[in-house]
Amino acid sequence: MRFQRKHILGLGELSAEEIKLILDTAESMKEVSERDVKKVPALKGVTVVNLFFEPSTRTRSSFEIAEKRLSADVLNFTPAQSSVVKGETLLDTARNLEAMGASVIVIRHSMSGAPWLLARELSASIINAGDGSHEHPSQALLDLFTVREIKKEIRGLKVLIVGDIAHSRVARSNIWGFVKLGAEVRLVGPPTMIPRDIEKLDVSVFYNLEEAIRDVDVVMMLRIQKERQESGLFPSLREYSKFYGLTRDKLKLAKDDVIVMHPGPINRGIELSSEVADDVHSVILDQVANGIAVRMAMLYLVASAGGTE
Ligand code: CP
Repeated sequence: MRFQRKHILGLGELSAEEIKLILDTAESMKEVSERDVKKVPALKGVTVVNLFFEPSTRTRSSFEIAEKRLSADVLNFTPAQSSVVKGETLLDTARNLEAMGASVIVIRHSMSGAPWLLARELSASIINAGDGSHEHPSQALLDLFTVREIKKEIRGLKVLIVGDIAHSRVARSNIWGFVKLGAEVRLVGPPTMIPRDIEKLDVSVFYNLEEAIRDVDVVMMLRIQKERQESGLFPSLREYSKFYGLTRDKLKLAKDDVIVMHPGPINRGIELSSEVADDVHSVILDQVANGIAVRMAMLYLVASAGGTE
């Protein structure tokens, strides 16, 4: 199968076959990352712009390393030091960067749908690095890659996602990805943080963590966004942590070989105790390491696809 897409915007619009192709390509890219000389000429002469309107440690650094391993010319655009502060629009900013030769734009923006806007208006390939509370495809792809690498097969696994599902782009992209690849997906969190009608995505909903975690293969913890406390979605961090924080005792209810995931940054002692974050079940740093190979695959596939979608 050949990858036909010019953009990677979300897992909602990728087929299971396209997702598997990205994961298979990432396996080859991981082999490059394990060589002494971690560089291939695949994107030589291609200019990639990282256009991050929100803070990032993992995604931005990982895309930059991936781009450099593919020999691309890389520009890290910093909105706070640009004419964005003078009121230049997103579209004008992106069009100007494209006029300077950018043919791939990696964008993170607080506005859901921003990557789709650029994909519609520009000629460059667009990769979504997180848009509002909508999608975070590179995170979900690296999560799928990590689970497949450890468990060998995603179909049939029981995957539990814990926390603020309603505001999480990581949760949304992972739900699409794991369901499309045949996993059984469970969600658990306070009722105020579970979107109405989410069962339509073929997931099951729980409100009690001890019940939801029984016999699962994968536990994916979400970062609690502390600003949600002010909007009244949960009464206190201490109470949230008591009911939905993952501890060793709760983890014992899952399968013996359960893996614990978290997209980062972790609020230690709130959604995840430090003993769980750092113990043998945790694959959090494997996720981060795999992010480079997965992003190399995404960049390579969109830059060489020549498609129009
Ligand atoms: N997982 C993730 O998106 O982390 P950053 O916000 O640090 O990029």
